[in-house]
Amino acid sequence: MDDATRLATDLAGVKLRNPVLLAAGTAGYVDEMAGAMDLAGVGAVVTKSITAKPREGNNTWRIIESRTGMLNAIGLANMGIDAFVRDQAPRIAGAPTTVIGSIAGFSIDDYTAVAAAMNGIDAMPAVELNVSCPNVHGGTEFGVDGAALRDLVGAVRAVLTRKRLFVKLSPIVVGAPGATIADIARAAIEGRGVPCGPGSRPGADGLCLANTIPAMAVDVHSRTPRLANVTGGLSGPAVHPAAVKLVHEVYRKVAKGANVPIIGIGGVMRWEDAAEFILVGASAVEMGTALFVDPRLPGKVARGLGAWVQRQGASSIGELVGAVKL
Ligand SMILES: Cc1cc2nc3c(=O)[nH]c(=O)nc-3n(C[C@H](O)[C@H](O)[C@H](O)COP(=O)(O)O)c2cc1C
Repeated sequence: MDDATRLATDLAGVKLRNPVLLAAGTAGYVDEMAGAMDLAGVGAVVTKSITAKPREGNNTWRIIESRTGMLNAIGLANMGIDAFVRDQAPRIAGAPTTVIGSIAGFSIDDYTAVAAAMNGIDAMPAVELNVSCPNVHGGTEFGVDGAALRDLVGAVRAVLTRKRLFVKLSPIVVGAPGATIADIARAAIEGRGVPCGPGSRPGADGLCLANTIPAMAVDVHSRTPRLANVTGGLSGPAVHPAAVKLVHEVYRKVAKGANVPIIGIGGVMRWEDAAEFILVGASAVEMGTALFVDPRLPGKVARGLGAWVQRQGASSIGELVGAVKL
């Protein structure tokens, strides 16, 4: 048996050649990384998050290195959905790997406008909903408020009739009283309304855990924040154990019973990090910060996973999903 068979992955009906994906916002729109790495060696590229209108994003510095990872405050800089559909979508069909869309917004109308447009991109089998942006109505994020998230997912589901829907949760859920990550995950899966398309659910078909952790760094010489935006999101090795715990909790309390796949995201730099995610219940992983260190790392992680599956005596990586011995 070869790696192709061992690593083939099915995310709610989306078939990928392996479970190593490039994370939203770290790999361009479609295939910009092709010059730096072999895109055919990864399971999918997730586009940077697309908003209804074009956005310049925040002032620089908006990406800085920290001792244990990176802080970014890009501010969702992107060309907006109209330009994305016109200029980028035609390249998706010819990309050397699967391309998954990512949607961000500040209101339900924003999200549904982008979702409706992405629904028309034939070569894109799934989209991620990035719910870690401020919700202008409540002044909070959809990702920390179960009721708001249900409404959002339901509204997006209604227009996203031809795609699988993965909801990317925030790692911080302290916004709503008593809300745990499992409550938020449940809200995402339940959504509102009726399932759209054969085999799909009323809410999310999959969950992505997680986005960056709010963070800040200060230059002690100038006594100024190192990011122009003052605060940003921490990613990389520092967040990995926290993300593993989130996947573990959501898998056991919600996703396993509902048969909803999880994509583990946060600090995957080596195959062992990806294997940890798989063992606590992720069906795939995404890598972001690692690409800034060495764009060849995702290929190495995929090869390492293939060898690990074989050493574990499993015939496919799916057999090891959630197989941690507690
Ligand atoms: C420079 C940069 C830009 C990002 N942009 C987005 C984005 O547009 N949408 C999104 O959902 N996540 C975005 N993220 C978060 C990543 O997709 C990922 O969730 C996070 O970085 C944790 O994974 P990592 O530790 O492998 O980087 C961004 C991260 C970085 C470092």
